[in-house]
Amino acid sequence: MKELTPKRVADSRVEQIQIVLSSHINGAGRLFGGQLMEWIDIVAGVVARRHSNHNTTTASIDNLQFKEPVYLNNTLVLFGKVTYVGKTSMEIRVDTYVEHLDGDRKLVNTAYFVMVALNESDHPTPVPPLMLESDEEEADWKAGERRNELRRHRRVEQY
Ligand SMILES: CC(C)(COP(=O)(O)OP(=O)(O)OC[C@H]1O[C@@H](n2cnc3c(N)ncnc32)[C@H](O)[C@@H]1OP(=O)(O)O)[C@@H](O)C(=O)NCCC(=O)NCCS
Repeated sequence: MKELTPKRVADSRVEQIQIVLSSHINGAGRLFGGQLMEWIDIVAGVVARRHSNHNTTTASIDNLQFKEPVYLNNTLVLFGKVTYVGKTSMEIRVDTYVEHLDGDRKLVNTAYFVMVALNESDHPTPVPPLMLESDEEEADWKAGERRNELRRHRRVEQY
């Protein structure tokens, strides 16, 4: 099979801005967690599409802790990037921050997605290797490798 050309983390990076509207608020007056999930899922999906140049599907999501409350009219900034790739899967990290009017940003949530690239027959298909260009990207990759192993163990234990 033909080797795929490696891609940089920067080639698929996504930044998305949201302003919290009244339709996004829950009964307690805060951002509805499911709404944040939808935004995060879209960011991860676009990163995965850009890296793989295929449609993708979400295989798993790790770590949804809500560290900061988010209120009506807040500005949210979501950053998504590839941290690790396997054969057909990609680990995508999405960091969500609330950005205050003075520019100060507080981390709301960090999520790790495993997205799988799908071919025209809806089956997993190989993704390009990831080029690592900085110490930070190397560290992300090493941590991604460990998380990938943990996920494999967890799956074996579940079935
Ligand atoms: C994800 C899915 C495509 C995997 O298909 P599969 O037939 O199990 O394929 P494979 O076993 O070859 O796995 C493909 C890759 O996905 C990874 N993977 C599969 N299940 C996984 C899971 N639960 N968590 C993390 N990674 C997973 C495998 O490790 C493999 O990665 P690699 O190729 O980089 O080594 C399939 O389980 C599926 O379609 N699930 C439903 C996804 C969906 O509909 N998501 C939307 C939620 S509403």
